[in-house]
Amino acid sequence: MKQLFLPLIISLFCVISSSLSQTIWLDELDLSAMEIGWGSPNAKKSVDGNPLSIGGQKFERGVGTHAVSTLLLKLDGKGKHFSAFVGVDDETENEIASIEFFVVGNKRVLWQSGVMKAKDSAKYISLDIIGIKQIVLLVTGSDDGINYDHADWCDAKLEMTEPISPTQLVEKRSVEPYILTPQPSDMPKINGAKVFGVRPGNPFLYTVAATGKRPMTFDAINLPNGLTIDKANGQITGTVNVKGEYKVTLIAQNELGKSERELRISVGEKIALTPPMGWNSWNCWACAVDDEKVRASADAMVSSGLVNHGWTYINIDDCWEIKTETDDAMLKGEPRDGRGFINTNKKFPDMKSLSDYVHSKGLKLGIYSGPGPLTCAGFAASYEYELQDAQRYGEWGIDYLKYDWCSYSQIAKDRSLPELKKPYAVMRNALDKVPRDIVYSLCQYGMGDVWEWGEEVGGNLWRTTGDITDTWSSMSKIGFGEAGHEPFAKPGSWNDPDMLVVGQVGWGPQLHPSRLTSDEQYTHISLWSLLASPLLIGCDLSRLDDFTLNLLTNDEVIEINQDPLGKQASRIFNQNGNQIWVKELEDGSKAVGLFYVGDDEKKTPADYFEWERKSKATISLPASSLGFNGRFTVRDVWRQIDLGMFEEQFDVEVPWHGVALLRISK
Ligand code: GLA
Repeated sequence: MKQLFLPLIISLFCVISSSLSQTIWLDELDLSAMEIGWGSPNAKKSVDGNPLSIGGQKFERGVGTHAVSTLLLKLDGKGKHFSAFVGVDDETENEIASIEFFVVGNKRVLWQSGVMKAKDSAKYISLDIIGIKQIVLLVTGSDDGINYDHADWCDAKLEMTEPISPTQLVEKRSVEPYILTPQPSDMPKINGAKVFGVRPGNPFLYTVAATGKRPMTFDAINLPNGLTIDKANGQITGTVNVKGEYKVTLIAQNELGKSERELRISVGEKIALTPPMGWNSWNCWACAVDDEKVRASADAMVSSGLVNHGWTYINIDDCWEIKTETDDAMLKGEPRDGRGFINTNKKFPDMKSLSDYVHSKGLKLGIYSGPGPLTCAGFAASYEYELQDAQRYGEWGIDYLKYDWCSYSQIAKDRSLPELKKPYAVMRNALDKVPRDIVYSLCQYGMGDVWEWGEEVGGNLWRTTGDITDTWSSMSKIGFGEAGHEPFAKPGSWNDPDMLVVGQVGWGPQLHPSRLTSDEQYTHISLWSLLASPLLIGCDLSRLDDFTLNLLTNDEVIEINQDPLGKQASRIFNQNGNQIWVKELEDGSKAVGLFYVGDDEKKTPADYFEWERKSKATISLPASSLGFNGRFTVRDVWRQIDLGMFEEQFDVEVPWHGVALLRISK
């Protein structure tokens, strides 16, 4: 009997244990928990949305990501085996791409790929993970440091010893929103830029931004000749022919009272005297942008109340032009007419009427092109048609141009300074022939230290880095990386660390809430304000949640960004993961950001274990570091409350990846 039953028992045991064990594919997990250096991680696709492919080998399953990327998995000792093929995705255009894959378990490196370059064959991982509590799947740039690129985990799967739900495996980062900004009062209060530049003879539009109960009436005393104010909506329009500095008193009035504030109108050569504030289509819609979405954004800018806090620009990014290399009938056509003037694609049937619509709301319209033959997304750009394009922008009523290098790589002889500057000077020259103030935004990702010469080629702002994405590693690297660029920021000339990644973002039709935690979003907006950065909201404005709206409508935070002195904050302290940044303000006070960045000097793969490091830090601010001695007053800017008088030093507790934003006066 025994002999008969033994094989039965063994096979029964095998059946039971194999039914208990489970395979979990990496592409089944919630990838929003993955930290990524650029773009968004994709299930079964590369980071750019193409079929996964390494060294010519195609894969059906897996995850496409971009270094530096981390995914933390809580195995809880229930893991048995991990396997995957890894390598640089074949879509990468960067021939010198070199990255390294790690599997780190319980803070020990369990497997490492060694440096992998573009076109290398995939490397196979087959790893016993019995007893491991947590693993991190990590891709870093290799030691040469700069060549971070598209990285794939193909056919990646975990064998578990017992069934476990994929959601239990992923450590979701807390995004519990908490609102600090107090609600504006019903009393009228004028917000927005205190100084505004215009060129003589060019069309003028400045909308008085004011919070308070409606109906509200507006007035402006001492307007220069040529300007009038619409008392019902606060729009100041006209043209001023005589150069000069004009001090105007703005008035906003409702049934509860009256608010007055001075506006300095500077009629001269300089525009963008404070960092541009508005919205741009790229971080939410990317190429899914169309006329309807742009109008909806303008509507939402007004209905959400953002306009009452100084938000002004509605900027169309890439994908409004004609694309010839496509089967999409909406995009195809003749890029230009017989006289070389640019055509729009069918998503934008009438640019002039769109611009009239945006202007009728007191807002301004921005557009996008590039100095090469094609834009980054492969649409017609301005190469050899700069004059026609600038003229057409003027006729349409465009107020802002983002000019993106991309395919100019094929035209430029090399990356020498004269070659980097040339195409930007050519478009500057074309814009100068147009009787309209068009803010000129240079986009070439910081090549040749553009901050040193962006002003010389006539830019009003210049991107200092590659594209931002909604992860801590991307946002913090870009934002805190602005240290040292402060000498180059001033009224009319701004460093641009890229657009905001708060709210519903997504780079396409599918949007998701920003993957930054609430603390990280406070850090993002505080830092961009201290940096006097252009503030371009990158989310779907028609779906603003309360948290995001409050983040974007704190007038004391915006006032720091828009301060007329136009100084960019300097980092005065950087130790043990704590940073202090200080921005001088026009009234002699200082805006101070105390950030607990944490130990993000990720020296070893084991340092990528994050959740154990979440805690608070106490950061001390010595008055002497601000050039103050004796007593000083401290105001909490996000909460808009005075914290009192202090002597010599102020200590504050700051959450991990969070900030205390203060305004300090003598
Ligand atoms: C580049 C820019 C982005 C965006 C896209 C459009 O990547 O850096 O901000 O404009 O091109 O294709």
